[in-house]
Amino acid sequence: QNHQQINAKNTIEPHVLIFPLPLQGPVNCALKLAELLCLSGIHVTFLNTEHIHRPLLRHAPVLSRFSRYPNFRFETIPDGLGHQDPVTGDRFYELMDSVHSVTKPLFREMMVSGRLSRKSERPVTVMIPDGVFSFAVDIAIEASIPVVCFETISPCSLWTSYFNLPMLIEAGDVPIKGNDLDKVITCVPGMDHIIRRRDLASFCRSDGLPDHAIELSLKEAHAISRAQGLILNTFEDLDSRILPHMRNFCPNIYTIGPLHTLHKNRLMANPTPAEKTTLSNSVWKEDLTCISWLDEHEPKTVIYVSIGSLAIMTVEQMVEIWYGLVNSGKPFLWVRRPGSIRGGYEEFRAPTELLARTNETGCIVEWAPQEDVLAHPAIGGFLTHSGWNSTIESLTEGVPMVCWPYVADQQVNSRFVGEVWKIGVDMKDTCDRLIVEKAVRDVMDSKENIYSQTTNTLANLAKEAITNTGSSSFSLDRLIDDILVMSS
Ligand code: UDX
Repeated sequence: QNHQQINAKNTIEPHVLIFPLPLQGPVNCALKLAELLCLSGIHVTFLNTEHIHRPLLRHAPVLSRFSRYPNFRFETIPDGLGHQDPVTGDRFYELMDSVHSVTKPLFREMMVSGRLSRKSERPVTVMIPDGVFSFAVDIAIEASIPVVCFETISPCSLWTSYFNLPMLIEAGDVPIKGNDLDKVITCVPGMDHIIRRRDLASFCRSDGLPDHAIELSLKEAHAISRAQGLILNTFEDLDSRILPHMRNFCPNIYTIGPLHTLHKNRLMANPTPAEKTTLSNSVWKEDLTCISWLDEHEPKTVIYVSIGSLAIMTVEQMVEIWYGLVNSGKPFLWVRRPGSIRGGYEEFRAPTELLARTNETGCIVEWAPQEDVLAHPAIGGFLTHSGWNSTIESLTEGVPMVCWPYVADQQVNSRFVGEVWKIGVDMKDTCDRLIVEKAVRDVMDSKENIYSQTTNTLANLAKEAITNTGSSSFSLDRLIDDILVMSS
């Protein structure tokens, strides 16, 4: 459906306000959704907080791509954060506190007055905030604007650890105290004793978190249930175990995943396709030399290692992972994001033997074009922090995973990878060179590899979901239709 058709049908032009969580992963997803809506002729305003918009302006292939759309505009809103780089996972609640005290009142004023900025005259007809911004749902309801939440975390975590949080608290499973991490959770429908306390989202563990961490998640689940709909980056076949249960809480769910391939598909089908290299929404500059390094390797021989945009590891953990990789004998491509190693990295002198073996078989970069890396034939495994984007990008390419979850939904995702989808090994709460070495061999060695069939099956289902007749294409079209109806 094009822009002119939409104008003919509606007197008020559909105008969606997308308001993402100001972090690399969620912004990346939200930009993909924004572009899909733009392609259908809907007006989109993308509201970034200043903190994430600054780095986006610096590394900006994305800005030139979006400048092609007359129906797209960026707006920014203060968030009270300084000029430092995007936050690391250990500072997530600092970010949320700042958004609550600085951004929330400004956002409320914006929405209730009906004017996004001095430049913008067009009223917002539908709001799509990140689910974590429960205040945005309250404000949308107050301003009588239809609201659909976009959750960029995994549906499995949303179901097990957010929607069921009141039941977990009542059962005494949360907050998790002491050592009883292996106790099996029985109060979550659809989980058939699969989840242990240690597999719940990290905010369920009481250690080191602010008191309001659980309250924030309770509010998030409540806000989602009050919205007109919920957008998820998954596909029906992947989460068939939990989606029917989730629909009891939130009947109108749009499953539009894998969003990165659905986005690529629709963009390429567009009469004026963007150049391949400009499809990236990365906030940081990607080191493309690793692709030519991969070109030199045989199919399925390289293990890719990355802990995403927020996770950090200590020097001790880095050394264990490093030895595990080298001892596995597999060539490795390792993303070591600046700032991701803590605790004396500057003083750390790697043993000569480790460096020599790394020079033979390893490639270390600061940031990689991950979607292209995972799609490269040389990749045979992924040692990941189990962020939801990384998980879905990997399973779409049929790459088995070694999971080392760090925070948030990652604890749940890694359990699903190991026990529900059976496409990898979960080494949660351990970091030992022998375990790393064995896990890498287990997912990569071809003889009687138990993961090759499951990874292929899921990858094929992921591809099917985004075809013209697939469930995710259908869901996206339904979302677009519903936005038009809500705007009229
Ligand atoms: C955060 C949370 O940690 C995660 O659990 C939640 O699901 C979303 O927000 P993040 O650490 O950013 O995510 O991980 P992930 O969701 O995996 O996203 C990382 C993104 O960065 C991916 O889209 C990946 O393709 C991209 N990436 C990563 C690169 O482009 N280059 C890299 O070198 C590494």
